[in-house]
Amino acid sequence: MTDTSTQPRVLIFDTTLRDGEQSPGATMSHSEKLDIATLLDDMGVDIIEAGFPIASDGDFEAVSGIAKIAQNAQVCGLARANYKDIDRCWEAVKHAKRPRIHTFIGTSPLHRAIPNLDMDQMAERIHDTVSHARNLCDNVQWSPMDATRTEHDYLCRVVEIAIKAGATTINIPDTVGYTAPRESAALIRMLLDRVPGADGIIFATHCHNDLGMATANALAAVEAGARQIECTINGLGERAGNTALEEVVMAMKVRNDIMPYQTRIDTTKIMAISRRVATVSGFAVQFNKAIVGKNAFAHESGIHQDGMLKNRETFEVMRPEDVGLLGTSLPLGKHSGRAALRAKLRELGFEMADNQLNDAFVRFKALADRKKEVFDDDLIALVQDNASHAAHDTLQVKRLRVVCGTDGPQEAELTLTIDGVDHSIDATGDGPVDAAFNAVKMLVPHNARLQLYQVSAVTEGTDAQATVTVRVEEDGRIATGQSADTDTVVASVKAYVNCLNRLIQRRAKSAPDSDTKSVNYKDAG
Ligand code: KIV
Ligand code: ZN
Repeated sequence: MTDTSTQPRVLIFDTTLRDGEQSPGATMSHSEKLDIATLLDDMGVDIIEAGFPIASDGDFEAVSGIAKIAQNAQVCGLARANYKDIDRCWEAVKHAKRPRIHTFIGTSPLHRAIPNLDMDQMAERIHDTVSHARNLCDNVQWSPMDATRTEHDYLCRVVEIAIKAGATTINIPDTVGYTAPRESAALIRMLLDRVPGADGIIFATHCHNDLGMATANALAAVEAGARQIECTINGLGERAGNTALEEVVMAMKVRNDIMPYQTRIDTTKIMAISRRVATVSGFAVQFNKAIVGKNAFAHESGIHQDGMLKNRETFEVMRPEDVGLLGTSLPLGKHSGRAALRAKLRELGFEMADNQLNDAFVRFKALADRKKEVFDDDLIALVQDNASHAAHDTLQVKRLRVVCGTDGPQEAELTLTIDGVDHSIDATGDGPVDAAFNAVKMLVPHNARLQLYQVSAVTEGTDAQATVTVRVEEDGRIATGQSADTDTVVASVKAYVNCLNRLIQRRAKSAPDSDTKSVNYKDAG
């Protein structure tokens, strides 16, 4: 085991709750954000970017709530380059033990054109806003958005201004995922060489994954001298997402021989937080995703299995337990008791209060009645399913019966509890899912358009649970819902209803001006 304690430290700045949450459909509730922040704090993330306080009251509350509960991590809020944003950001983060204000403006020619500022006017704006932030908080991060497409001379000039105005961290974003590793490294080296005062602050790297190079670009920036990586769990983020936290952290750990840097991350907590983020965001992790994908440690082919039995290192560069994945263990069955369930859930990273355990136990028994063996993945699906449905949701699925087979049209009888009152309807459709969705639409008329309907089996066998993901769009608002059940049609309807519940919450929250997506990079002036 290498002693990493003398190696340069790379700070991990997690932006799952800000950049991640900005990806269409990934909206999280207040309590979900607090939960994720607690897990991030626990796993050793150095800075949590908790949100964009000016964007909505919900964002403000989430940032200030997280600021109040974080024990170790610095808590950061995002603000555009104007006093109103910065003041609101400070109001939200000031409760933290270690608050940070992150202010930004687009510096590339395309982004300068948006607020219609010339180079000198923008330089003055940067000086004024960073100074203003620094007067409020002694921990200020500044980002020249679209830095990788900004003229080098101008980038050096504005970075110098921001440092002189008091920025303590300068973040270099590859906003559109355009750079490549060699160029990412050269840019950091150029700034370190040319900008006066650069050696007294921390350079950060913030890479988007449009060309699939975010992880490589972030690591290249570190090799060149960046000492903070901005990233998200599961690589969540706008478009193709951000650098994935689990990838950069494990790359520096596994290849510490060639990337000798230390982080404070407890890597055994990776799987648990990855699962939680997948559930609350509704963005399932692709099976072959590095580190956290379902197949990342699966060895199916005979030749691989043979090699693994002889020596694990034949086909594995890291141990599953290093990321919090346990070896396959015995499945539970209908005779397993509450204590066995609690122990197993704890092993899987789910710490439950007594009332949550009771709830999970009832659902586990119902599942075990239908399914002979309840595997780890079944339990994860069960707990995640429970977490995504709240008792106070406007719509609840009470009963569903479908008739399907070769003779159509297929029929569905559905009872939904809407605001505490039961409503029933019969509908037909082209297949059982279509019939059941038609019934939902008749009981809850809406104009939301179905964007995604996806089914995957949790385990093998015909009695496996199905996990269903549904995404809908209404007037630019996107909501995602998920559910799991051994009955695929029941899982589908629950996922759809879950999605509509989220849409109802979003409609209620978003006065036109208070929608997170209505305050975005385009307004970055
Ligand atoms: O991608 C980006 O440029 C950003 C900035 C706000 C830092 O997320
Ligand atoms: Zn970004």
